Amino acid sequence: MSERRGLEAGFRREPREPLDVGSEPTLVDRLRAEIAASGPLTFARFMELALYEPGLGYYRRARSGPGAAGADFLTAPETHPIFGRAVARQVHEVWERLGRPAELVVREHGAGTGALAVGILDGLAAERSPLIDAVVIEPVEIEAARLAAFDERLRRAGHARRHRPASREPITGVVLANEVLDALPVHRVEWRDGRLREGLVDWLDGRFIEVLAPPTTPALEERLRIEGIELREGQRAEICLALDGWMAAASAGLGRGLLLLIDYGHPASQLYGPRRAAGTLAAYVNHRVHADPFVNVGRQDVTAHVDVTAVERAGSAAGLAPVGITSQAEFLAGLGIEALLREAQSDPRTTMEAYLALRSGLMRLLDPAATGGFQVMGFARDFRVEPPLRGFAYRLARTPPHGR
Ligand SMILES: C[S@@+](CC[C@H](N)C(=O)[O-])C[C@H]1O[C@@H](n2cnc3c(N)ncnc32)[C@H](O)[C@@H]1O
Repeated sequence: MSERRGLEAGFRREPREPLDVGSEPTLVDRLRAEIAASGPLTFARFMELALYEPGLGYYRRARSGPGAAGADFLTAPETHPIFGRAVARQVHEVWERLGRPAELVVREHGAGTGALAVGILDGLAAERSPLIDAVVIEPVEIEAARLAAFDERLRRAGHARRHRPASREPITGVVLANEVLDALPVHRVEWRDGRLREGLVDWLDGRFIEVLAPPTTPALEERLRIEGIELREGQRAEICLALDGWMAAASAGLGRGLLLLIDYGHPASQLYGPRRAAGTLAAYVNHRVHADPFVNVGRQDVTAHVDVTAVERAGSAAGLAPVGITSQAEFLAGLGIEALLREAQSDPRTTMEAYLALRSGLMRLLDPAATGGFQVMGFARDFRVEPPLRGFAYRLARTPPHGR
């Protein structure tokens, strides 16, 4: 997505192909068999299979994955390499603050086909950072086919020696995840007749349907209680219980340094507030966003906005110190992304085409209706968090809210 907030922000692209691309038949059979054997599935289980079932789920197919060519959405690093270049500046600052260790690892979860990794490495090289000789990227990717594409992309970019398979060892450096948390399976709930109900997935008359039932786990109510959330009658919401396990595992991989998470999300009070009373679940197919997870099963991305409050709590449960939470626009501004534009403008080698691509890429990366409004969340272990890191030090003036 990274123009994934389209549903909420009204930011859409024209569909290039019809919305209904059909479901993966074998995956549908597998889901139906599970429903037949054990009854309606939690939405989290449905989403797990739809996205992650080996060979069949959306993220487990051999296709290239997110990107401009034929993909369903465009992430920030795929939008323009300047994103990676700005992140490189943040990585460089972490390296400095760690005392310039001889090796600095960037462990990238959901590394995809390497757009961000190449952006970071190219950025370090362009800025003549000595870190280029100390940095090693460790991609963590659920789909092995994408790891091969990652490898090939780094090799083509001349960075073959700067990456290696991820180990289980805690690293000194940066643990990074751009647009991964939003794809963790979520439960769906609804407040109905004064009590919490859970939306389960059943099969009826040749299609998947939702049925409301008592919650399958007390953890759902517990999450809302801890966050002080009271849903209103008829309100729908998603709850990501998988977040805690993911954060614990990712944090365990950080020995010293920064955990940097970038995704679209909101504090719980906003995520579960009246503006999002229908929830935030969205499906992406052919650069088009819609709200039906039960079509194109296995062939469309399914996501929900991230509960930033739950991320903060999980970070602190993992023993990490908060570094800051800011918007992507502010993060990039703090890292001097606009100066990079001016630099390119005054460089006689910059072609008109490259300049225009850079300028429009930058607009998307900063635009709150595209990815500029994403949340950048930083946590640290055994790392000095003051003064604030550059990416977390910048605050744009807030537009006063209106019409509410
Ligand atoms: C939306 S893409 C983002 C790719 C890349 N980070 C970027 O910004 O361009 C999500 C990527 O994360 C991978 N992924 C999703 N869940 C994952 C998980 N739990 N562990 C590792 N990789 C995961 C997917 O296979 C996919 O390549």
